[in-house]
Amino acid sequence: MRIIVCESAEEVALRAAIESIEYLGEALSTQSSGKSENPEASCVLGLATGSTPLGLYREWIERYRAEEISFRNVTSFNLDEYCGIPPSDPQSYHSVMHENLFRHIDIDPAKAHIPVTDCDDLSQSGERYEAMIEEAGGIDLQILGIGSDGHIGFNEPGASFSSPTRVKTLTKRTREDNARFFPSIDHVPRTALTMGLGTIMSARAILLLATGKGKAKAIRDTVEGPITAMVPASILQFHPYATVILDAAAASELALIDYYVDAERNRQS
Ligand code: F6R
Repeated sequence: MRIIVCESAEEVALRAAIESIEYLGEALSTQSSGKSENPEASCVLGLATGSTPLGLYREWIERYRAEEISFRNVTSFNLDEYCGIPPSDPQSYHSVMHENLFRHIDIDPAKAHIPVTDCDDLSQSGERYEAMIEEAGGIDLQILGIGSDGHIGFNEPGASFSSPTRVKTLTKRTREDNARFFPSIDHVPRTALTMGLGTIMSARAILLLATGKGKAKAIRDTVEGPITAMVPASILQFHPYATVILDAAAASELALIDYYVDAERNRQS
């Protein structure tokens, strides 16, 4: 794992923008044709909701407005969607993504995918989502946040390491953490349709972002703890290309923090 420690949440957003734009390269070029014949010039992005990636999305939007990047050759797949609230609900991840990213950029709405939960058969919906990701050629870069209990997507402790997109029950802790977005905890959905850990691990590269003291323990367990289903994000230790970008508070419990800072300095020199 590559660990990048930043001073602030703003710097995390900036570094995440720089890393993602560099990694996706040509695919975000404003020069390449909208109907590019060159598969190298298109890409598949995995996106997250929650509050952590919002700074990154603002950075992307700013660069799009400055005509530095374009999303017209991007296909995206969001990690998850709540069950039991319609896409029109302001707290649905459909609404959150539209409000905070999609409506500000030139991504083709038909290519911006979010798990569908307003349907009769959720397990079929999960299978269809997996098939769509495969048809698109797999995810090139997956953006992740992390829950205070170590979840990624809504893969809560105990989630199977090889799981595909399916319905998961949210833990009490996750519902409490997310209650800040709802009128009360009773309004927080109890289940969500989420990419599995297997789906996430199939992405070619991962960018996990974490900010704030509330994530420090989950980050320590993810980066330096044993790989265990009790900390779902710890499976990322197996990923060949996972980068973790942290602010000082989220990095504050890392035993090897000096080493990571040193390694990053050497990388840049
Ligand atoms: C969101 C998601 C979750 C969040 C996590 C952290 O799509 O999959 O794993 O990334 O709950 O949420 P925030 O960023 O609000 O602390």
